[in-house]
Amino acid sequence: MIYRKLGQSELQVSAITFGAWAIGGFMWGGSDEKDAIQAIQKGFDMGVTTIDTAPIYGMGLSEELVGKAIQGQREKFQIMTKFGIKWQEAGNQQQFSSQKDYEQLMEQIYLSAKKEVIMRECEDSLRRLNTDYIDYYQHHRPAEDAPISEVMEALEKLQDQGKIRAAGVSNYSLEQMTEANRHLQVQANQLPYSMVKRDIENKIIPWVLQNKRSVIAYSPLQRGVLTGKYTPGHQLKEGDHRKSSRFFQTENIRKINAFLAKLEPIATRHQASLAQLVLNWTLHQPGITVVLAGARNPLQVEENARAADIQLSEQEVGTINTHLEKLELDLS
Ligand SMILES: NC(=O)c1ccc[n+]([C@@H]2O[C@H](COP(=O)([O-])OP(=O)(O)OC[C@H]3O[C@@H](n4cnc5c(N)ncnc54)[C@H](OP(=O)(O)O)[C@@H]3O)[C@@H](O)[C@H]2O)c1
Repeated sequence: MIYRKLGQSELQVSAITFGAWAIGGFMWGGSDEKDAIQAIQKGFDMGVTTIDTAPIYGMGLSEELVGKAIQGQREKFQIMTKFGIKWQEAGNQQQFSSQKDYEQLMEQIYLSAKKEVIMRECEDSLRRLNTDYIDYYQHHRPAEDAPISEVMEALEKLQDQGKIRAAGVSNYSLEQMTEANRHLQVQANQLPYSMVKRDIENKIIPWVLQNKRSVIAYSPLQRGVLTGKYTPGHQLKEGDHRKSSRFFQTENIRKINAFLAKLEPIATRHQASLAQLVLNWTLHQPGITVVLAGARNPLQVEENARAADIQLSEQEVGTINTHLEKLELDLS
């Protein structure tokens, strides 16, 4: 595993970090508790010491599972969680595997970033995670009910209280990130980034490099489609948000798989899977400090963790980029 410094903080994080969204089940057609806990523990054995979760992932369930998995070893992990996406309290953690529940729960979600809400959310996360500090606390998504200055004030207070070790943001535009940093040193912006989603390279990455901050890349496998395991016509489970994703539409799956097939010789040379090749490429893009690889079970996390060990030559990276330049998806 590779370990990297997050922004200008003192936090060292595993470059492949465990993404704990899918284990929450909500929006992923449900999840399995035993698999989820074993996945986190397997990841740890493989050097994945950092976990990214959020209250909204399974309406508290993901954080609770993370809390169970790290029990007795808290100080060996770096826990990243978030605040700012709320739900009305009727959410039932058991009911994530039907389309109807998914749609009803989606209607209950709202954004809020008022200072008192953030302070309360932090206490709730600490309780669910069964810990007295959070290593890295992130504003999940910009909200309209409070200015960025208020969000940063809350984060500074939590830092002063020792409840969080470092602060960050997610889904912030360049302007919002700049504004946040006028009030508090924000270490990273957590953003969507994968081989097929690279828009942050235009403005955000140059700013991050210049200001010695980090990008935490989310959905690096583009929610699973970049593993090559999905074939046109594949039926996703009820309650799985990927049913409506443009990346999972037949023509795009076909094009992505044709692109991945061209990478097979490189993968074979390194005895690697396509998922590992994709994660490794992502990990070595400028400005990317952490790649958040989501996983549901020990096998997936083991495969993803090993991605950090591959050493691609310049020529191989060049070949991948040449094929990538020719890949045109229909995302309209
Ligand atoms: N800040 C934000 O707004 C935000 C938004 C999205 C995600 N995130 C974070 O980023 C993390 C990762 O993103 P993500 O979960 O959206 O997408 P991802 O990492 O691109 O894909 C994860 C999914 O791909 C499949 N998969 C993973 N490893 C695999 C392997 N080795 N072989 C085969 N299939 C594999 C699994 O689903 P299946 O087995 O069902 O295919 C898994 O749930 C999340 O867990 C979360 O922590 C943050």
